Amino acid sequence: MKRIAVVASGRGSNFQAVIDAIRNGKVPAECVALITDNPKAYALERAKMSGIPCRIIDYATFPSREVYERALLATMQDVNADLFVLAGYMRILGASIVKAFPGKMINIHPALLPAFTGLHAQRQAFQYGVKVSGCTVHFVDESLDGGPIILQQCVPVLETDDEDALAERILMHEHECLPEAIRLFCEDRLVIEGRKVRVL
Ligand code: GRF
Repeated sequence: MKRIAVVASGRGSNFQAVIDAIRNGKVPAECVALITDNPKAYALERAKMSGIPCRIIDYATFPSREVYERALLATMQDVNADLFVLAGYMRILGASIVKAFPGKMINIHPALLPAFTGLHAQRQAFQYGVKVSGCTVHFVDESLDGGPIILQQCVPVLETDDEDALAERILMHEHECLPEAIRLFCEDRLVIEGRKVRVL
């Protein structure tokens, strides 16, 4: 059974979707840790309710980004997971961390990459006026939201939408896509070939 660890900064609804998928047998994994940079993250409550160990690396308590990242890296190494799942981790991971876990880190992004990278992807899509957006699960490399794509789902933008309604609709799809990508990883069915991910 693969060991996975989730890295999250906030409410953790994607984390919850992963917990639920493991619990109901859809994902053959053990969640060995929740790692967060935010001591107020609601994700911590979710971890506690499910008996998942928490590691808080409180960004605010470090003198610099470098020192914070060193602590985060040490924690990730200590957790010793086969896969790190970024699920609403709201910071950019430094190169030293990305390099330490090649092919072992995935991220969920609330847009159809390569469109609308970075923060507030749903707002970017809504303001741009696209008729279709969606979500993407991808491997993490040193680029911003640019690693090899594992799965995507399309989500229509409706005439009646505002930014929140669109974000909510996308989120429902994230909750399907992320556990599915983790399942494929845990079944050893993802092969990275350059920019592409082959799903066996
Ligand atoms: C999600 O939209 C995710 O795609 C983005 O941040 C949000 C996190 O939501 N990276 P939650 O914390 O999983 O509820």
